[in-house]
Formats: sequence, C-alpha cells, structure tokens
Amino acid sequence: MSDLRVDPASIGLGQRAQTLCFPPEEGRNDMVRVGVIGYGYWGPNIVRNLQGQKNAQTVMVCDQNPAALARARKAHPSIETVSNPLDVLRSPEIDAVAVITPVWTHYELAKTALENGKHVFIEKPFTSSSAQAEELIDLATQKKLTIMVDHTFLFTGAVRKIHELTESGALGDLYYYDSLRVNLGLFQHDVSVIWDLAPHDLSIMDHIIRAEPEAIVATGEKHLNGVEDVAFMTIYFPRNVIAHINVNWLSPVKIRTTLIGGQKKMVVWNDLVADEKVRVYDRGVQITSGEGIRDLLVSYRSGDMWAPQLEQLEALHVEMGYFAECIMSNKVPFNDGHAGLRVVRMLEAADKSIRRKGELIRL
Ligand SMILES: NC(=O)c1ccc[n+]([C@@H]2O[C@H](COP(=O)([O-])OP(=O)(O)OC[C@H]3O[C@@H](n4cnc5c(N)ncnc54)[C@H](O)[C@@H]3O)[C@@H](O)[C@H]2O)c1
Repeated sequence: MSDLRVDPASIGLGQRAQTLCFPPEEGRNDMVRVGVIGYGYWGPNIVRNLQGQKNAQTVMVCDQNPAALARARKAHPSIETVSNPLDVLRSPEIDAVAVITPVWTHYELAKTALENGKHVFIEKPFTSSSAQAEELIDLATQKKLTIMVDHTFLFTGAVRKIHELTESGALGDLYYYDSLRVNLGLFQHDVSVIWDLAPHDLSIMDHIIRAEPEAIVATGEKHLNGVEDVAFMTIYFPRNVIAHINVNWLSPVKIRTTLIGGQKKMVVWNDLVADEKVRVYDRGVQITSGEGIRDLLVSYRSGDMWAPQLEQLEALHVEMGYFAECIMSNKVPFNDGHAGLRVVRMLEAADKSIRRKGELIRL
C-alpha cells in the first residue's frame, strides 16, 4: 500500500453509527491530538510513529519516571511533558490517550480516559482480566468512543500478506497454526511469559482463523522470579483447526517462526530474516480411498515454493494512522476492545489450565 493510511474497508471492517467526538470547531477535526502515558521501552515507538502522521500528533507525554521524561524532552523538545497522568487524562487539548504502561495499570488509566471523553489506544494485553475489558468496552460504547488495542503484528507486512492468503482461500481450509516465540529475557516483573509474548500469536490467530476457540490446554513453569518463564499452549478451534504456541524467556537463541498449514498450501513465516520472511509452499497430502477400508491411497503434493512481496512500512506507523482514521471517520477498528477481550479470555483460560497442570479449559 503506497498510502500510509489503511483503508479499513479493504480488511473487511464493519461501520459503526456514531457521532464524531470532536467539537465541531474550526481546525479541530482534522487532527487527532494524542497524549501518551508511559515512555519506557515501548512508549518512544508510539510517539515516534505518531510524528509524521497526516491526521494525528502527540501533544503531551506523561511518565512518572523523571529519567523517562528527560529522554522524551531530548527526543521531542516541542512536546509538553508531565509526570501526573491526570494532566493528560483531563486535558481539553487532548482527543485520545495512548496507554503504554504495564498491564496492571491499563484498566484505571483507560477508564479515566474514557470517563473524560477521550478515545483510547492501549497496549496489549488489553487488561488484567476479562471483567475489566468488558467494563471498558461498555463504557466506550456508552460514550461513543473508540478503543484500539495495540496488536502491532496485525499491521506488519507479513501478517497482512498471510491474512490476504487465508481470506482469499489460497491456503484452503486451515489445519493448524504453530508458533515458536522464544528468546533470552526480557523478563517482565508483573506478568508471565504467556501474558507478555502470547498476545502476539493469539491476536494473529484471532485475525486469521476468525473463529472463537473452543478449549485451551496450557502448561508452564516458573524458574526464576515467580511467574511462568516457559509455557506451551494448545488451542482448539472449530472444524479441527488446532494451534500451538511455545513462548519462552529462557531460550539461548531468539526464534520467531510460525507454520500455518492449509489444505491447499502451507506457510512458513520466519520473522527474523530480512528477505523471504513469508514462504508459501504448494505442498500437501491427499488421501483417497480405494476399494476396501484398508485401501487408502496417500499421495504427496510437492509443488513450488514462492516468497511473496511484503509491505515494508513500519507496522506501528500504519497502525497509528489507522487509529486516527477510525476516530475521524467513525469506523470500528478490527483491533478494537472486543478483539482485546478475546485475547484476554484466552490468556485467562491458559492461566487456569496451567494452575491445574494442563487441564482442558472450555471457553
Ligand atoms: N505491542 C508490542 O509489540 C509491545 C512491545 C513491548 C511492550 N508492549 C506493551 O507496552 C506496555 C509497556 O511496556 P514497556 O516494556 O514499555 O514497559 P516499561 O516498564 O519499559 O515502561 C512503562 C513506563 O510507564 C511508566 N508508568 C507506569 N505507570 C505509570 C503511570 N500510572 N503514570 C505514568 N507513567 C507510568 C513507567 O515509569 C515506565 O517508564 C505493556 O503493556 C507491554 O505489554 C507492547
């Protein structure tokens, strides 16, 4: 896509009947003014990707850590910095708040933002519990405000291509999604490796499989700081689609490889290589029955492999433009609060299964 703005219609989004939340004053409704709360590891990426947007800009950065604010001032001298989140949440100069803080703070900050009439862009995982997510969705609906959950991978060239392949039927009926997402660190203190890394795969699966999961089995262990640092999840979807996710902070090497098997074609996505990240294999197995029940004929198809061209735009840049566009044109983002809630429900089920040593949890 040459234009940085995503056309939501191109990805099959619904429309929502609501009024614009901007005051209809001159010059006010052509730019979404964003206040960013949290300028730690991820926050600077959000601010950088809001800069240069046609329809959005960062007008305030908040962090309770003075060193973080000093970094923000150095990188963006023209942006106002504050240490109290209420200065952002209550500011009449701000239309939307980006919540880029640890997950346990998401609910309170987002709730206050919505109560003050602000749209919300919020980090993954959306909230610490599905009850919190449901409450925020209800509040946003009442107030006619947008919630977008930062499921960044959905905006990468790789996932957009895989989505295109599944939507067009090129892969055929899906069989499985199998992901290895492992590295050494970065340890989080407040969440397990499942809540930290699995939201990426769960949001991708939610986007491409497009079916509610039926059940989850998860196992994991804590070795160092009281939260699971190695975990394995199996997710059962309707029509025999199965997904497996391996997340690990104790791997000596970083691996980001996903296999997606379809009846017609299979995909290998290696996110760490510069070229040919996504390879599509025309390979598969066909079983035909002969005369008797023992007479099954197995044939293997081993056709070409091709590596499609991927969009090279930075995912967060596309996503921030889409956020502003959804607000300005009253469209429901596909990564809205409901998408965030679906991921949180899977995370909760995984935690429950881990506590019960791998019991099957029905959703
Ligand atoms: N989408 C992605 O790919 C991606 C990548 C990394 C992190 N994240 C998410 O981003 C969020 C933040 O992660 P991080 O790694 O940047 O964490 P971090 O700890 O590095 O940064 C968080 C910052 O928020 C500040 N903060 C915390 N509570 C605050 C409050 N109430 N008011 C003002 N400032 C406050 C802290 O001082 C800190 O500077 C998490 O939800 C994480 O899951 C997403």
